[in-house]
Amino acid sequence: MTAGLNGRSVIVTGAGSGIGRAAALAFAAQGDRVVVADLDAERADTVVEEIEEAGGTAVAVTGDLSEQAVVDRVTATAVERFGAVDVLVNNAGIMDSMSAPADVSDAEWERVIRVNLTAPFLLSRAVLPHMLAAGRGAIVNTASEAALRGSAAGVAYTASKHGVVGLTKSLAVMYRGSGIRANAVCPGGTATAIAVEADRSAHGPATLAPHFVNLGRVSRPEEQAAAILFLASDAASNINGAILPVDDGWSAV
Ligand SMILES: NC(=O)c1ccc[n+]([C@@H]2O[C@H](COP(=O)([O-])OP(=O)(O)OC[C@H]3O[C@@H](n4cnc5c(N)ncnc54)[C@H](O)[C@@H]3O)[C@@H](O)[C@H]2O)c1
Repeated sequence: MTAGLNGRSVIVTGAGSGIGRAAALAFAAQGDRVVVADLDAERADTVVEEIEEAGGTAVAVTGDLSEQAVVDRVTATAVERFGAVDVLVNNAGIMDSMSAPADVSDAEWERVIRVNLTAPFLLSRAVLPHMLAAGRGAIVNTASEAALRGSAAGVAYTASKHGVVGLTKSLAVMYRGSGIRANAVCPGGTATAIAVEADRSAHGPATLAPHFVNLGRVSRPEEQAAAILFLASDAASNINGAILPVDDGWSAV
């Protein structure tokens, strides 16, 4: 640990598992102070313990980030405990059941859009006044390969992640010149706990299967975290509105 090197106040959502956990550990390892936000209290507490045992600083906030009250609690915790919000990583997300547009239920559509797109919007809106007052900030959103193509997931997940790209670009343009940057990573297949409950209908995985070629190597969560940390760092000071595939070249095929 190199505590004190950076000392930024960083919010990472979905930090209890997978890519978010790897990012939280990596930010903490370089001396940033991390709000570990996740639905799962046990996982969030475990990540905070891991960070503290390694000499870092973190605090857990648990709850469903698609609820405004939870978003407000996450933001208030960062400001009260760490004095600012320097970095927001909107990473929490859920997969869909690979349903086609004619088959998806209202409940699935609304839940996936709410968690994957509305929650990042709510949290961005909540932290922006703090970033604007400070004249600096970096937002990094975890989109997906499904933000770049129609064949990587069902309609709900695909639409939600294309929406994350739109949110990222709007943030980048609207706050250009204010010291705030917004970028997104698009992970390809990554070894995490994300659950895919595939719809068995004719238009679900059966339709998508022929497109699941040239995926490339499955990445480690740490490889996604490295890209997130780069986009949040001063090394990326002129990168704003970029949508970065981290997918062993899948999107290039
Ligand atoms: N794993 C992949 O192959 C892959 C590929 C492309 C994009 N992604 C994206 O990466 C991001 C991270 O996913 P992961 O693969 O690390 O999965 P993961 O399931 O390991 O981690 C996701 C975390 O988000 C949390 N979460 C889910 N819904 C939440 C909510 N409403 N409020 C708060 N926390 C919530 C979960 O509890 C979990 O800890 C997601 O946005 C996902 O869509 C993953």
